[in-house]
Amino acid sequence: MKTIFSGIQPSGTLTIGNYLGAMKHFVDLQEDNNCYFCIVDEHAITVPQDRLKLRENIRSLAALYLASGIDSDKSTLFIQSEVPAHTQLGWMMQSISYIGELERMTQFKDKSHGKEAVSSSLLTYPPLMAADILLYNTDLVPVGDDQKQHLELTRNLAQRFNHKFNDIFTIPEISIPKVGARIMSLQEPTKKMSKSDENNKASIFMLDDEKKIEKKIKSAVTDSEGIVKYDKENKPGISNLLTIHASCTGETIETLEQKYEGKGYGEFKQDTANAVINVLKPLQQRYYELIDSQELDDILDKGADKANFAATKMIRKAKKAMGLGRVKKKK
Ligand code: AQP
Repeated sequence: MKTIFSGIQPSGTLTIGNYLGAMKHFVDLQEDNNCYFCIVDEHAITVPQDRLKLRENIRSLAALYLASGIDSDKSTLFIQSEVPAHTQLGWMMQSISYIGELERMTQFKDKSHGKEAVSSSLLTYPPLMAADILLYNTDLVPVGDDQKQHLELTRNLAQRFNHKFNDIFTIPEISIPKVGARIMSLQEPTKKMSKSDENNKASIFMLDDEKKIEKKIKSAVTDSEGIVKYDKENKPGISNLLTIHASCTGETIETLEQKYEGKGYGEFKQDTANAVINVLKPLQQRYYELIDSQELDDILDKGADKANFAATKMIRKAKKAMGLGRVKKKK
């Protein structure tokens, strides 16, 4: 049995990128592993958030985790800010991180690019992410492709800490799905699909209704060639739709290429929309049952208790290793 940790930011409604790249894979993993799934609200505040909207997004994300199949009897589902050990260890991790290595993070460069006021937490959020993972003796972190660099930094920081102070942290492995690891924007298919994209047509959100999903996929940017073929360089739009279609139905990309040979983009797009709708519809039904329920609060309370218990043990070890606090004199 391995220990698994993964987090998602409540920075907006989740996209099918978040679902196909990360959340979908969590459900299988919880069967044979000790899983922690986290709503990383402290990561979300690295960019400006409306307080009421943030609260709404936190609850919504919790309901989406459960609606997608996370079972609270098998996994620990919790909110990061309800477990103070995350920011405590995050600070310790910051103290062993170098500014240069944080400035090299692609996400920092992308999210700070062209902005006048960039919060310092946008720069220092990867050490907090390292703390999230290291607190639970995590063996494996299932994430989308965009988190690879942050995971490498996490491994480096864990090794640095173990070497400098005491060998207390497990060095985590990263797990990236073979298909769906990077779902692209429907409007700019060379750019990652993101929940905070300002262009609403660029992303399919997990709570979009059938009509919206159809409309967005039909207006997805493709090319004028009319051939359904995977070619990321020359046909990024069609390649992205093939990835979405394959991830939703479980068919291979090769099977889909054969199925749509000689057919136009119209039929392919319609079937891709149906494939997405078939995945999201049952999930949405469960979501609406959960969102205002007491059950959701009970699950999050239980999750916070379990996570606090495990994280407090690790924070004690980390403080001792670094020499923080004091050893009380015996009376
Ligand atoms: N487009 C994507 N394709 C595949 N996987 C993706 N993930 C995100 N976008 C895609 C994966 O989803 C998980 C949760 O991501 P996150 O919310 O923690 O942060 P993010 O990677 O920054 O996601 P977004 O949607 O782009 O959020 P914003 O717009 O707030 O920055 C991660 O495992 C991620 O790899």
